Formats: sequence, structure tokens, C-alpha cells
Amino acid sequence: MIVGIIGAGTMGSGIAQAFAQCEGFQVRLCDITEELAARGKGRIEAQLMKRVQKGKMEAAAAQTILDRIATGTKDICTDCDLIVEAAFESMDVKQQTFQELMAIARPDCIFASNTSSLSITQIGAKLDRPLVGMHFFNPAPVMKLVEVIAGINTPRALVDRVKEIAVSLGKTPVEVNEAAGFVVNRILIPMINEAVGVYAEGVASAEDIDTAMKLGANHPIGPLALGDMIGLDVVLAIMEVLQAETGDPKYRPHPLLRKMVRGGLLGVKSGQGFFTYTK
Ligand code: CAA
Repeated sequence: MIVGIIGAGTMGSGIAQAFAQCEGFQVRLCDITEELAARGKGRIEAQLMKRVQKGKMEAAAAQTILDRIATGTKDICTDCDLIVEAAFESMDVKQQTFQELMAIARPDCIFASNTSSLSITQIGAKLDRPLVGMHFFNPAPVMKLVEVIAGINTPRALVDRVKEIAVSLGKTPVEVNEAAGFVVNRILIPMINEAVGVYAEGVASAEDIDTAMKLGANHPIGPLALGDMIGLDVVLAIMEVLQAETGDPKYRPHPLLRKMVRGGLLGVKSGQGFFTYTK
């Protein structure tokens, strides 16, 4: 199966790796320039080399995975069976991307979006084929879940097909009827927002909030470190979608979250969030 991935950032390159590490998939990793796409592949290579150095993977196996990934702009997606869009989280960008893909892709190519909270129905509104949500979790090569999201016009057969593809990647799909934040982000992101509030009120230090949730709730990583990993700008954007779509004040983004994003404190990607990160 030939799979196009649109967007070679953290999620796009992680999704490309998730496909490429399974036999039977060829990947076209795309971005707006060839250089950005190549940089995404470089990220995958660095990740695989870490595993080789740890003795968890043979160098030849890492090379096989890399050989399955071609890079370029979306023009290399003409022969794809499936395209997963993982572009910037903006309705306009996603709608425009799919409009352009319609002119490039085969008529029978499946269109899927990795949006983390935007409406599948709205992204797919003006397309010549139905759209489905295929939502991976960061880090995509490791996390087992894929949310398969049906918009109002997504046929049953397409949901089933994408669930099968997720299973062939070694993932566990859950079926979701489109709703703001789907399942995971509707629960997870307000929890992170609440942790920001606990921190802002001085209830405990950032370290102790994270230790409390790791040891008291068995989370693999604390909520503030997780917010830093996801990107505090992404956390804020998802809270805003939840608030706008539901009109429910319980989804109010915490003012400290907003202030940190305005100040460029975005977490791991900017080097500073609730914690400090060095390259
Ligand atoms: N890419 C590929 N592989 C990665 C990776 C990455 N970015 N980060 C870690 N890994 C791999 C490591 O290579 C390692 O593999 P091996 O065991 O084969 O060596 C394995 O993951 C475990 O990594 P580490 O030992 O370095 O660290 P860890 O045990 O602390 O696990 C973690 C790292 C899996 C990320 C863990 O901290 C975790 O589960 N964190 C929570 C992640 C989470 O909640 N993600 C969801 C975010 S929400 C989201 O993504 C949705 C959205 O729309 C915003």
C-alpha cells in the first residue's frame, strides 16, 4: 500500500515512521518544500539510530524502514492508495490542502485527516470523496491508539477500511462519532488545563504536580510535562475548539496557559514551558 503523509512535522514524521516500520507500506512524506520533508525524514533517522545505538534494532532494519520513505512536496502523491493529512492545525490550511490533493491524487485514493480536534465534516465539506479522521497520538510510532472519526458524511465502509489499516500497523483503533476533541483530547486536554490552574494557584510546584499524577494516578508522564510535549499552543488551540464548539464555560482555557503561549513558552519545541529543555 502506498501512503502519502502531508506535513513532516512531529506528527507527520511520526506517522510516516509508524507506516514505514510495517512491511507492505511505502510512504511518501511531504511538506511545502522538499527541504522540510527531508528534515522530517532526518528526524525519523535520528530516532531509529537511537534504537540501533541502544542495541534494540539492527542497522539494516533501520535502513529498510528509511528506504520505504520517499520525500518531496505533495506532487509525489499521484500513486497513493491513502493520504493522511497532518498539516498545520487550521481549518483553512486543511481545506486548502485537500482541494489541492483532489487535483493530484487518484480518484480512489482514501483521504484521511490527523486533525486533533477540528470537524471532519467541515474539513471534508467540499471534496469529491468522503473524508475520515485518522488520529494518531504522539509519539506516533509508539502509541497504540488510533481514533477513527466519522463525520456526518463518512460511510461505514470507509470507517471499517481505515480501522483495518490501523490494525495492520499494529495499532488499536477506536471508532468515534465526530464531536469536539473526539474522545482522548476531550478528556486529556481539560485535565492538562486543570493542572495549569493547580500550578497557577500555587497548590504545588510543577515537579510535585507531575509526581503526584505519575505516582497517584499511574500516568506515564505528568500533565505539565505532557502539555510541554504536546505543545502549549496546541493545548490552548484544543481548549478553544472545545469552548467554541460546545459553548460550555467549563472549557475555559486557563489565563496562565494563554499568557505562556503569548510569551512564546510553548514547551519542548521552544525549549521552555513548565520545564526547561535543552537540545
Ligand atoms: N518517536 C519514536 N519512538 C519514541 C519516541 C519518539 N518521539 N519517544 C520515545 N520513543 C520510544 C523509545 O525509543 C523507546 O522505545 P524502546 O523501548 O523500543 O527503546 C520507547 O518509546 C520508550 O521511550 P523511553 O524509554 O525513552 O521513555 P519512556 O519510557 O518515558 O516513554 C513515552 C516515552 C512513550 C513518550 C511515555 O513517556 C508516554 O507514554 N508518555 C505519554 C504520551 C502521551 O500521553 N501521548 C499522547 C499525547 S496527546 C496526543 O498526541 C493527541 C493530540 O492530538 C494532542
